[in-house]
Amino acid sequence: MNTNTIRVGIIGTGGRGITCIGRQIAVQASELGMTITAFCNRTENRMQVALEDVNAVAKAAGNEPFSPTFYSNAIDLINDDQVDVIVITTPTNAHLEAAIPALQSGKKVYLDKPIAHTLEDSIAIRQAEHESGNTMIMGFTRRYEKPWIDCKSLVESGAIGNLKMMLVRAVLPYAFYFQTWHRSRAVSGGALNDKGSHYTDVFNWFAGGRALQVNAFGGRNVFQEQEDAPEFCSECDRDCPYRADQIRPDTQDQVKGAVDASFAQETDPMKRKDNCVYKKGADIYDHASINYQYDNGIVASIFYTIYGPQAEDEETLELVGTKGRIILTRLRGEINLVTDYGEKKHEVIPCKAEYFESSHFGADRKLVQEIAAHARGGPSPVDGWHGMEATRMVVGALQSLDTGGQTVRMADLADGS
Ligand SMILES: NC(=O)c1ccc[n+]([C@@H]2O[C@H](COP(=O)([O-])OP(=O)(O)OC[C@H]3O[C@@H](n4cnc5c(N)ncnc54)[C@H](O)[C@@H]3O)[C@@H](O)[C@H]2O)c1
Repeated sequence: MNTNTIRVGIIGTGGRGITCIGRQIAVQASELGMTITAFCNRTENRMQVALEDVNAVAKAAGNEPFSPTFYSNAIDLINDDQVDVIVITTPTNAHLEAAIPALQSGKKVYLDKPIAHTLEDSIAIRQAEHESGNTMIMGFTRRYEKPWIDCKSLVESGAIGNLKMMLVRAVLPYAFYFQTWHRSRAVSGGALNDKGSHYTDVFNWFAGGRALQVNAFGGRNVFQEQEDAPEFCSECDRDCPYRADQIRPDTQDQVKGAVDASFAQETDPMKRKDNCVYKKGADIYDHASINYQYDNGIVASIFYTIYGPQAEDEETLELVGTKGRIILTRLRGEINLVTDYGEKKHEVIPCKAEYFESSHFGADRKLVQEIAAHARGGPSPVDGWHGMEATRMVVGALQSLDTGGQTVRMADLADGS
Protein backbone atom coordinates (compact mmCIF):
# COMPACT_ATOMS: atom_id res chain seq x y z
CA MET A 1 0.00 0.00 0.00
CA ASN A 2 1.26 3.47 -0.88
CA THR A 3 2.46 5.24 2.28
CA ASN A 4 0.34 8.25 1.31
CA THR A 5 -2.82 6.19 1.17
CA ILE A 6 -5.56 7.51 3.47
CA ARG A 7 -6.78 4.64 5.65
CA VAL A 8 -10.40 4.98 6.73
CA GLY A 9 -12.20 3.33 9.65
CA ILE A 10 -16.02 3.42 9.57
CA ILE A 11 -17.97 3.33 12.84
CA GLY A 12 -21.59 2.39 12.04
CA THR A 13 -21.65 0.30 8.87
CA GLY A 14 -25.31 0.94 8.02
CA GLY A 15 -27.14 2.92 5.34
CA ARG A 16 -25.07 6.08 5.53
CA GLY A 17 -21.70 4.56 6.38
CA ILE A 18 -21.83 1.98 3.61
CA THR A 19 -24.32 2.73 0.86
CA CYS A 20 -23.28 6.39 0.71
CA ILE A 21 -19.77 6.93 2.06
CA GLY A 22 -18.30 3.41 1.86
CA ARG A 23 -19.49 2.96 -1.72
CA GLN A 24 -18.08 6.35 -2.75
CA ILE A 25 -14.71 5.44 -1.23
CA ALA A 26 -14.90 2.14 -3.14
CA VAL A 27 -15.58 3.96 -6.43
CA GLN A 28 -12.87 6.61 -5.98
CA ALA A 29 -10.27 4.63 -3.99
CA SER A 30 -7.45 4.66 -6.52
CA GLU A 31 -8.19 8.19 -7.78
CA LEU A 32 -8.13 9.62 -4.24
CA GLY A 33 -5.57 7.27 -2.71
CA MET A 34 -8.00 5.97 -0.10
CA THR A 35 -8.75 2.60 1.42
CA ILE A 36 -10.97 1.16 4.18
CA THR A 37 -8.99 -0.59 6.93
CA ALA A 38 -11.51 -0.97 9.76
CA PHE A 39 -15.21 -1.38 10.48
CA CYS A 40 -17.00 -1.07 13.80
CA ASN A 41 -20.63 -2.03 14.22
CA ARG A 42 -22.92 -3.07 17.03
CA THR A 43 -23.75 -6.26 15.14
CA GLU A 44 -21.19 -8.47 13.42
CA ASN A 45 -23.43 -9.58 10.55
CA ARG A 46 -23.88 -5.96 9.42
CA MET A 47 -20.12 -5.69 8.93
CA GLN A 48 -20.09 -8.82 6.79
CA VAL A 49 -22.97 -7.52 4.63
CA ALA A 50 -21.27 -4.12 4.46
CA LEU A 51 -17.99 -5.61 3.32
CA GLU A 52 -19.64 -7.61 0.55
CA ASP A 53 -21.43 -4.43 -0.53
CA VAL A 54 -18.38 -2.14 -0.75
CA ASN A 55 -16.20 -4.83 -2.30
CA ALA A 56 -18.76 -5.47 -5.06
CA VAL A 57 -18.69 -1.72 -5.80
CA ALA A 58 -14.86 -1.61 -5.68
CA LYS A 59 -14.65 -4.54 -8.07
CA ALA A 60 -17.09 -2.95 -10.52
CA ALA A 61 -14.95 0.22 -10.44
CA GLY A 62 -11.75 -1.78 -11.05
CA ASN A 63 -10.42 -1.14 -7.55
CA GLU A 64 -8.77 -3.53 -5.07
CA PRO A 65 -11.08 -5.20 -2.52
CA PHE A 66 -10.85 -4.02 1.10
CA SER A 67 -10.09 -6.31 4.02
CA PRO A 68 -10.92 -4.24 7.10
CA THR A 69 -10.49 -5.38 10.68
CA PHE A 70 -13.89 -5.80 12.38
CA TYR A 71 -14.44 -4.19 15.80
CA SER A 72 -17.41 -4.25 18.11
CA ASN A 73 -16.08 -1.32 20.13
CA ALA A 74 -15.49 2.18 18.71
CA ILE A 75 -12.52 2.85 21.00
CA ASP A 76 -10.63 -0.12 19.54
CA LEU A 77 -11.13 1.22 16.02
CA ILE A 78 -10.07 4.71 17.09
CA ASN A 79 -6.86 3.27 18.59
CA ASP A 80 -6.06 1.12 15.54
CA ASP A 81 -2.77 2.45 14.09
CA GLN A 82 -3.94 1.35 10.63
CA VAL A 83 -6.65 4.03 10.74
CA ASP A 84 -5.96 7.67 9.77
CA VAL A 85 -9.51 8.96 9.27
CA ILE A 86 -12.43 8.05 11.53
CA VAL A 87 -15.86 8.15 9.87
CA ILE A 88 -18.74 8.18 12.37
CA THR A 89 -22.10 7.11 10.95
CA THR A 90 -23.87 5.50 13.89
CA PRO A 91 -27.45 6.47 14.85
CA THR A 92 -27.42 10.01 16.17
CA ASN A 93 -27.60 9.23 19.92
CA ALA A 94 -24.39 7.19 19.59
CA HIS A 95 -22.36 10.03 18.01
CA LEU A 96 -20.92 11.40 21.25
CA GLU A 97 -19.42 8.13 22.54
CA ALA A 98 -17.31 7.85 19.37
CA ALA A 99 -16.85 11.52 18.43
CA ILE A 100 -15.22 12.73 21.66
CA PRO A 101 -12.47 10.06 21.82
CA ALA A 102 -12.00 10.31 18.05
CA LEU A 103 -11.44 14.08 18.27
CA GLN A 104 -9.12 13.65 21.25
CA SER A 105 -7.07 11.03 19.35
CA GLY A 106 -5.83 13.74 16.98
CA LYS A 107 -6.84 11.67 13.95
CA LYS A 108 -9.00 13.25 11.26
CA VAL A 109 -12.70 12.90 12.02
CA TYR A 110 -15.77 12.86 9.79
CA LEU A 111 -19.02 13.06 11.77
CA ASP A 112 -22.37 12.76 10.08
CA LYS A 113 -25.20 15.16 10.72
CA PRO A 114 -27.05 15.88 12.93
CA ILE A 115 -24.16 16.38 15.32
CA ALA A 116 -26.18 14.79 18.15
CA HIS A 117 -29.72 14.05 19.36
CA THR A 118 -29.63 16.64 22.20
CA LEU A 119 -28.24 20.13 22.66
CA GLU A 120 -26.11 18.91 25.60
CA ASP A 121 -24.35 16.29 23.44
CA SER A 122 -23.99 18.79 20.59
CA ILE A 123 -22.22 21.27 22.86
CA ALA A 124 -20.01 18.56 24.38
CA ILE A 125 -18.86 17.39 20.92
CA ARG A 126 -18.25 20.96 19.79
CA GLN A 127 -16.25 21.63 22.97
CA ALA A 128 -14.13 18.51 22.42
CA GLU A 129 -13.42 19.74 18.89
CA HIS A 130 -12.47 23.19 20.16
CA GLU A 131 -10.32 21.99 23.08
CA SER A 132 -8.47 19.39 20.99
CA GLY A 133 -7.87 21.87 18.17
CA ASN A 134 -8.90 19.03 15.88
CA THR A 135 -11.44 20.50 13.44
CA MET A 136 -13.75 17.84 12.09
CA ILE A 137 -15.67 17.68 8.86
CA MET A 138 -19.43 17.14 8.94
CA GLY A 139 -21.94 15.55 6.57
CA PHE A 140 -24.36 18.36 5.72
CA THR A 141 -24.83 17.05 2.20
CA ARG A 142 -26.28 20.20 0.68
CA ARG A 143 -22.93 21.93 1.27
CA TYR A 144 -21.46 19.41 -1.22
CA GLU A 145 -24.36 19.45 -3.68
CA LYS A 146 -23.78 21.47 -6.84
CA PRO A 147 -27.10 23.36 -7.21
CA TRP A 148 -26.90 24.56 -3.59
CA ILE A 149 -23.28 25.65 -4.08
CA ASP A 150 -24.29 27.41 -7.32
CA CYS A 151 -27.13 29.15 -5.47
CA LYS A 152 -24.70 30.40 -2.85
CA SER A 153 -22.45 31.81 -5.60
CA LEU A 154 -25.43 33.52 -7.24
CA VAL A 155 -26.39 35.19 -3.96
CA GLU A 156 -22.78 36.27 -3.36
CA SER A 157 -22.59 37.71 -6.89
CA GLY A 158 -25.51 40.01 -6.02
CA ALA A 159 -27.81 38.44 -8.63
CA ILE A 160 -30.89 38.92 -6.42
CA GLY A 161 -29.66 41.98 -4.46
CA ASN A 162 -29.48 41.70 -0.69
CA LEU A 163 -30.82 38.38 0.62
CA LYS A 164 -33.88 38.98 2.82
CA MET A 165 -36.01 35.82 2.95
CA MET A 166 -35.43 32.07 2.75
CA LEU A 167 -37.85 29.16 2.54
CA VAL A 168 -37.21 25.44 2.44
CA ARG A 169 -40.30 23.61 1.28
CA ALA A 170 -39.88 19.93 2.11
CA VAL A 171 -42.94 17.80 1.35
CA LEU A 172 -41.09 14.52 1.65
CA PRO A 173 -42.07 10.83 1.26
CA TYR A 174 -40.24 9.98 4.48
CA ALA A 175 -42.64 7.60 6.26
CA PHE A 176 -39.50 5.62 7.08
CA TYR A 177 -38.83 8.03 9.94
CA PHE A 178 -41.65 6.18 11.76
CA GLN A 179 -40.26 2.78 10.75
CA THR A 180 -36.67 3.11 11.96
CA TRP A 181 -34.78 4.37 15.04
CA HIS A 182 -35.68 7.88 13.88
CA ARG A 183 -39.14 7.35 15.47
CA SER A 184 -37.66 8.03 18.92
CA ARG A 185 -36.45 11.48 19.90
CA ALA A 186 -34.17 9.83 22.46
CA VAL A 187 -32.28 8.27 19.53
CA SER A 188 -32.65 10.74 16.65
CA GLY A 189 -33.56 14.03 18.33
CA GLY A 190 -36.70 13.88 16.15
CA ALA A 191 -37.31 13.70 12.42
CA LEU A 192 -36.87 17.45 12.44
CA ASN A 193 -33.34 17.08 13.78
CA ASP A 194 -32.49 14.45 11.20
CA LYS A 195 -33.76 16.43 8.22
CA GLY A 196 -34.30 19.93 9.60
CA SER A 197 -30.67 20.29 10.68
CA HIS A 198 -29.74 20.22 6.96
CA TYR A 199 -32.06 23.16 6.45
CA THR A 200 -31.00 25.19 9.48
CA ASP A 201 -27.39 24.66 8.40
CA VAL A 202 -28.26 25.93 4.89
CA PHE A 203 -29.94 28.98 6.44
CA ASN A 204 -26.83 29.72 8.52
CA TRP A 205 -24.56 29.17 5.50
CA PHE A 206 -26.57 31.64 3.40
CA ALA A 207 -27.60 34.17 6.07
CA GLY A 208 -24.17 35.00 7.40
CA GLY A 209 -25.83 35.91 10.71
CA ARG A 210 -27.26 34.16 13.71
CA ALA A 211 -30.85 33.21 14.53
CA LEU A 212 -32.42 35.39 17.24
CA GLN A 213 -35.79 33.74 17.72
CA VAL A 214 -38.05 31.00 16.42
CA ASN A 215 -41.66 29.92 16.51
CA ALA A 216 -43.24 26.81 15.08
CA PHE A 217 -46.57 25.04 14.70
CA GLY A 218 -47.11 21.41 13.86
CA GLY A 219 -47.66 17.99 15.29
CA ARG A 220 -48.88 14.62 14.08
CA ASN A 221 -51.89 14.23 11.90
CA VAL A 222 -51.19 11.22 9.66
CA PHE A 223 -48.98 8.82 11.60
CA GLN A 224 -51.19 8.70 14.67
CA GLU A 225 -51.08 5.67 16.94
CA GLN A 226 -53.57 2.89 16.24
CA GLU A 227 -54.55 0.36 18.88
CA ASP A 228 -54.49 -2.58 16.46
CA ALA A 229 -51.23 -1.66 14.72
CA PRO A 230 -48.95 -4.63 14.03
CA GLU A 231 -45.29 -4.61 15.11
CA PHE A 232 -43.63 -4.86 11.71
CA CYS A 233 -44.62 -4.62 8.03
CA SER A 234 -43.18 -8.07 7.44
CA GLU A 235 -45.79 -9.52 9.83
CA CYS A 236 -48.70 -7.63 8.31
CA ASP A 237 -50.76 -8.25 5.17
CA ARG A 238 -52.88 -5.09 5.22
CA ASP A 239 -53.21 -2.93 2.17
CA CYS A 240 -51.26 0.08 3.47
CA PRO A 241 -49.68 2.97 1.55
CA TYR A 242 -46.69 3.00 3.92
CA ARG A 243 -45.46 -0.59 3.69
CA ALA A 244 -41.68 -0.47 4.26
CA ASP A 245 -41.14 -3.48 2.03
CA GLN A 246 -42.96 -1.98 -0.94
CA ILE A 247 -42.91 1.78 -0.97
CA ARG A 248 -39.41 2.73 0.03
CA PRO A 249 -38.55 5.07 -2.83
CA ASP A 250 -35.38 4.45 -4.71
CA THR A 251 -34.09 7.96 -5.30
CA GLN A 252 -30.62 9.40 -4.85
CA ASP A 253 -31.81 10.51 -1.41
CA GLN A 254 -32.94 7.08 -0.22
CA VAL A 255 -30.32 4.85 -1.65
CA LYS A 256 -30.94 1.43 -3.16
CA GLY A 257 -29.67 -1.38 -0.98
CA ALA A 258 -29.79 0.67 2.24
CA VAL A 259 -32.29 -1.82 3.65
CA ASP A 260 -31.30 -5.45 3.48
CA ALA A 261 -32.00 -8.72 5.24
CA SER A 262 -29.43 -8.07 7.97
CA PHE A 263 -31.80 -5.54 9.53
CA ALA A 264 -34.61 -8.10 9.82
CA GLN A 265 -32.25 -10.11 12.02
CA GLU A 266 -31.90 -7.17 14.41
CA THR A 267 -32.66 -8.18 17.99
CA ASP A 268 -33.51 -4.58 18.97
CA PRO A 269 -36.90 -3.60 17.40
CA MET A 270 -35.80 0.03 17.35
CA LYS A 271 -33.03 -0.91 14.90
CA ARG A 272 -35.45 -2.65 12.50
CA LYS A 273 -36.45 -0.79 9.35
CA ASP A 274 -40.05 -1.98 9.09
CA ASN A 275 -41.74 -0.89 12.32
CA CYS A 276 -45.41 -0.11 11.67
CA VAL A 277 -45.84 3.66 11.26
CA TYR A 278 -48.94 3.48 13.51
CA LYS A 279 -47.28 1.50 16.29
CA LYS A 280 -47.02 2.99 19.78
CA GLY A 281 -43.76 4.42 21.02
CA ALA A 282 -43.00 7.07 18.40
CA ASP A 283 -42.73 10.57 19.84
CA ILE A 284 -41.76 12.58 16.75
CA TYR A 285 -43.78 15.10 14.71
CA ASP A 286 -44.84 14.42 11.13
CA HIS A 287 -45.25 18.03 9.99
CA ALA A 288 -44.30 21.56 11.00
CA SER A 289 -44.18 25.13 9.84
CA ILE A 290 -41.21 26.94 11.41
CA ASN A 291 -40.05 30.57 11.30
CA TYR A 292 -36.66 32.01 12.27
CA GLN A 293 -35.64 35.63 12.57
CA TYR A 294 -31.94 36.45 12.18
CA ASP A 295 -29.93 39.20 13.80
CA ASN A 296 -29.35 40.79 10.39
CA GLY A 297 -33.08 41.03 9.62
CA ILE A 298 -33.29 37.96 7.38
CA VAL A 299 -36.30 35.71 7.98
CA ALA A 300 -36.25 32.01 7.16
CA SER A 301 -38.97 29.34 7.14
CA ILE A 302 -39.22 25.58 6.89
CA PHE A 303 -42.48 24.16 5.52
CA TYR A 304 -42.10 20.50 6.30
CA THR A 305 -43.89 17.19 6.25
CA ILE A 306 -42.80 13.57 5.96
CA TYR A 307 -46.07 12.19 4.56
CA GLY A 308 -45.77 13.92 1.21
CA PRO A 309 -45.96 11.99 -2.05
CA GLN A 310 -42.80 11.29 -4.00
CA ALA A 311 -42.57 14.22 -6.43
CA GLU A 312 -39.96 16.02 -8.47
CA ASP A 313 -40.53 19.23 -6.54
CA GLU A 314 -40.62 17.59 -3.08
CA GLU A 315 -37.73 19.75 -1.84
CA THR A 316 -37.15 23.34 -2.90
CA LEU A 317 -35.12 26.26 -1.58
CA GLU A 318 -36.56 29.68 -2.28
CA LEU A 319 -34.48 32.83 -1.75
CA VAL A 320 -35.82 36.37 -2.03
CA GLY A 321 -33.53 39.37 -2.32
CA THR A 322 -34.11 43.08 -2.85
CA LYS A 323 -33.82 42.72 -6.66
CA GLY A 324 -34.86 39.20 -7.50
CA ARG A 325 -35.50 35.66 -6.39
CA ILE A 326 -34.23 32.09 -6.80
CA ILE A 327 -36.06 28.77 -6.65
CA LEU A 328 -33.87 25.68 -6.45
CA THR A 329 -35.64 22.39 -7.19
CA ARG A 330 -33.45 19.68 -5.73
CA LEU A 331 -34.66 16.58 -7.55
CA ARG A 332 -34.49 18.37 -10.89
CA GLY A 333 -31.03 19.80 -10.19
CA GLU A 334 -32.32 23.10 -11.45
CA ILE A 335 -32.32 26.77 -10.46
CA ASN A 336 -35.01 29.19 -11.60
CA LEU A 337 -33.73 32.77 -11.40
CA VAL A 338 -35.52 36.11 -11.67
CA THR A 339 -33.29 39.21 -11.50
CA ASP A 340 -33.37 42.98 -12.02
CA TYR A 341 -36.74 43.57 -10.34
CA GLY A 342 -38.38 41.14 -12.78
CA GLU A 343 -36.81 42.55 -15.95
CA LYS A 344 -35.03 39.23 -16.48
CA LYS A 345 -37.65 36.56 -15.97
CA HIS A 346 -37.33 32.87 -15.28
CA GLU A 347 -33.86 32.05 -16.38
CA VAL A 348 -33.83 28.26 -15.90
CA ILE A 349 -30.32 27.13 -15.04
CA PRO A 350 -29.69 23.36 -15.22
CA CYS A 351 -26.98 22.67 -12.67
CA LYS A 352 -26.83 18.94 -12.06
CA ALA A 353 -23.48 17.65 -10.87
CA GLU A 354 -21.69 15.30 -13.25
CA TYR A 355 -22.59 12.36 -10.98
CA PHE A 356 -26.15 13.54 -10.24
CA GLU A 357 -27.42 9.96 -10.45
CA SER A 358 -25.22 8.85 -7.53
CA SER A 359 -26.22 9.14 -3.86
CA HIS A 360 -27.43 12.53 -2.66
CA PHE A 361 -27.37 13.81 -6.22
CA GLY A 362 -23.60 13.59 -6.47
CA ALA A 363 -22.96 15.20 -3.08
CA ASP A 364 -21.52 12.07 -1.45
CA ARG A 365 -18.98 11.73 -4.23
CA LYS A 366 -17.79 15.29 -3.58
CA LEU A 367 -17.98 14.77 0.17
CA VAL A 368 -15.56 11.84 0.01
CA GLN A 369 -13.22 14.03 -2.06
CA GLU A 370 -13.47 16.68 0.66
CA ILE A 371 -12.74 14.08 3.36
CA ALA A 372 -9.60 13.08 1.43
CA ALA A 373 -8.54 16.73 1.01
CA HIS A 374 -9.17 17.39 4.72
CA ALA A 375 -7.11 14.31 5.64
CA ARG A 376 -4.25 15.79 3.61
CA GLY A 377 -4.41 19.06 5.54
CA GLY A 378 -7.12 20.95 3.67
CA PRO A 379 -9.85 23.01 5.38
CA SER A 380 -13.13 21.63 6.70
CA PRO A 381 -16.10 22.96 4.68
CA VAL A 382 -18.42 22.55 7.67
CA ASP A 383 -17.29 21.86 11.23
CA GLY A 384 -18.63 21.08 14.69
CA TRP A 385 -19.62 24.65 15.46
CA HIS A 386 -21.93 24.64 12.43
CA GLY A 387 -23.25 21.24 13.52
CA MET A 388 -23.97 22.47 17.04
CA GLU A 389 -25.70 25.63 15.79
CA ALA A 390 -27.85 23.68 13.28
CA THR A 391 -29.14 21.35 16.01
CA ARG A 392 -29.51 24.21 18.48
CA MET A 393 -31.89 25.89 16.02
CA VAL A 394 -33.85 22.62 15.70
CA VAL A 395 -34.03 22.35 19.48
CA GLY A 396 -35.46 25.89 19.57
CA ALA A 397 -38.11 24.91 16.99
CA LEU A 398 -39.00 21.74 18.94
CA GLN A 399 -39.35 23.75 22.13
CA SER A 400 -41.80 26.04 20.35
CA LEU A 401 -43.70 23.06 18.86
CA ASP A 402 -43.91 21.42 22.29
CA THR A 403 -45.44 24.56 23.77
CA GLY A 404 -48.04 25.11 21.05
CA GLY A 405 -46.12 27.72 19.08
CA GLN A 406 -44.63 30.02 21.71
CA THR A 407 -41.73 32.12 20.52
CA VAL A 408 -38.34 30.86 21.75
CA ARG A 409 -35.46 33.30 22.16
CA MET A 410 -32.33 31.58 20.89
CA ALA A 411 -30.25 33.39 23.52
CA ASP A 412 -32.08 31.28 26.13
CA LEU A 413 -30.56 28.12 24.65
CA ALA A 414 -27.00 27.28 25.70
CA ASP A 415 -24.27 27.20 23.07
CA GLY A 416 -21.30 26.31 25.26
CA SER A 417 -19.91 29.85 25.42
N1 LIG B 1 -25.71 13.32 5.55
C1 LIG B 1 -26.84 12.75 5.20
O1 LIG B 1 -27.50 13.18 4.29
C2 LIG B 1 -27.29 11.53 5.97
C3 LIG B 1 -28.12 10.58 5.36
C4 LIG B 1 -28.51 9.46 6.09
C5 LIG B 1 -28.12 9.32 7.41
N2 LIG B 1 -27.32 10.28 7.98
C6 LIG B 1 -26.89 10.15 9.38
O2 LIG B 1 -26.01 9.04 9.48
C7 LIG B 1 -26.18 8.42 10.75
C8 LIG B 1 -26.51 6.94 10.52
O3 LIG B 1 -27.74 6.81 9.85
P1 LIG B 1 -28.11 5.52 8.98
O4 LIG B 1 -29.28 5.87 8.16
O5 LIG B 1 -26.89 5.01 8.32
O6 LIG B 1 -28.54 4.48 10.13
P2 LIG B 1 -28.52 2.89 10.00
O7 LIG B 1 -29.41 2.38 11.07
O8 LIG B 1 -28.76 2.47 8.59
O9 LIG B 1 -27.01 2.50 10.34
C9 LIG B 1 -26.43 2.66 11.60
C10 LIG B 1 -25.47 1.53 11.85
O10 LIG B 1 -24.82 1.75 13.10
C11 LIG B 1 -24.87 0.53 13.87
N3 LIG B 1 -24.82 0.90 15.28
C12 LIG B 1 -25.82 1.28 16.10
N4 LIG B 1 -25.33 1.66 17.31
C13 LIG B 1 -23.99 1.49 17.25
C14 LIG B 1 -22.93 1.71 18.16
N5 LIG B 1 -23.16 2.20 19.39
N6 LIG B 1 -21.66 1.42 17.76
C15 LIG B 1 -21.43 0.93 16.52
N7 LIG B 1 -22.40 0.70 15.61
C16 LIG B 1 -23.66 0.99 15.97
C17 LIG B 1 -26.15 -0.18 13.42
O11 LIG B 1 -26.09 -1.58 13.66
C18 LIG B 1 -26.16 0.16 11.92
O12 LIG B 1 -25.41 -0.75 11.16
C19 LIG B 1 -27.29 9.18 11.47
O13 LIG B 1 -26.73 10.15 12.32
C20 LIG B 1 -28.04 9.84 10.33
O14 LIG B 1 -28.72 11.01 10.71
C21 LIG B 1 -26.90 11.36 7.28
